[in-house]
Amino acid sequence: MKEKLEKIREEALAQIGAAQSLEALNEVRVGYLGKKGALTELLKGMKSVAPEDRPKVGQMVNEVRVLLENALEEKKSALEDALLEARLEEEVLDVTLPARKNRVGHRHPNTIALEEVERIFVGMGYEVVEGPEVEKDYYNFEALNIPKDHPARDEQDTFYINDEIVLRTQTSPVQVRTMEQGKLPIRMIAPGRVFRSDEVDATHSPSFHQIEGLVIDKHITFADLKGTLAEFARELFGEETKVKFRPHHFPFTEPSAEMDVSCFKCGGKGCRFCKGSGWIEILGCGMVHPKVLKMCDIDPEEYSGFAFGVGLERIALLKYEIDDMRLLYENDIRFLKQF
Ligand code: DAH
Repeated sequence: MKEKLEKIREEALAQIGAAQSLEALNEVRVGYLGKKGALTELLKGMKSVAPEDRPKVGQMVNEVRVLLENALEEKKSALEDALLEARLEEEVLDVTLPARKNRVGHRHPNTIALEEVERIFVGMGYEVVEGPEVEKDYYNFEALNIPKDHPARDEQDTFYINDEIVLRTQTSPVQVRTMEQGKLPIRMIAPGRVFRSDEVDATHSPSFHQIEGLVIDKHITFADLKGTLAEFARELFGEETKVKFRPHHFPFTEPSAEMDVSCFKCGGKGCRFCKGSGWIEILGCGMVHPKVLKMCDIDPEEYSGFAFGVGLERIALLKYEIDDMRLLYENDIRFLKQF
């Protein structure tokens, strides 16, 4: 009996010492002190001990039990301490480390330019409207006085969905859609994407953006057009900016013009930026053609108006001195983050 007890004590202490986790330690405890544990089993064997020896043996067993319980308790707190230590080490937060940078995107040069143009016209009381990119041939051409055989169709070759439906080549169809609604007067700009079957190069893309403008009211004259667009140019390119109107032809305006602004780089003296001329072409404009008004059920005897169309990329390229349009579409962060 004594040897057995001795053996249990030695083995149990060794196992307690070797336990690497709380779970393993608990198994040791159950193995010796549990209901079917080795020490418990030993107590059950007391019957075979001579009655006079029982108190002594009982005492010995108890001593071993207390010894093992203490050893278990000690090991348990040691393991718990180690566990806490490891966790603290793992979860340490070094507040002196440099912060991880969040790379936040920002507005595209096109968007910056568009918002600038919108700000200027909204400030003059214009409304911002939109029209569909997939457009009826009627709105894109016919109603703008560009019939099927008109040479202007060659310059604006586009992608046909079918005979009647095209990807719009200009934002001008939004003029027609707005006039058709019959609410007068009109003061609107219509920004949006347009399409042409052009080859990609430094100044062309099959998809780009325009901003259309339209004013219809009683007594609108070319003077209103000039005053408005001159003010637009000054706000966009600076107070010193001068404008020049050159006669031009657009089927849906009469008379029509192209507007140049004095070069904001050299002030008009002539430089590489304006190719030595001192002027930079910026938009097309004109007085809305009476035929177009009539097709939209507006009486040209009572109402008149002016319209203009600006290339958004052209403005972005000029304002930010970008020399290749393709850069605007390549989504290269190194380029985009400069603006
Ligand atoms: N839609 C024309 C184009 O894409 C630009 C334009 C010219 C628009 C004169 C107008 C305008 O509203 O009056 O070439």
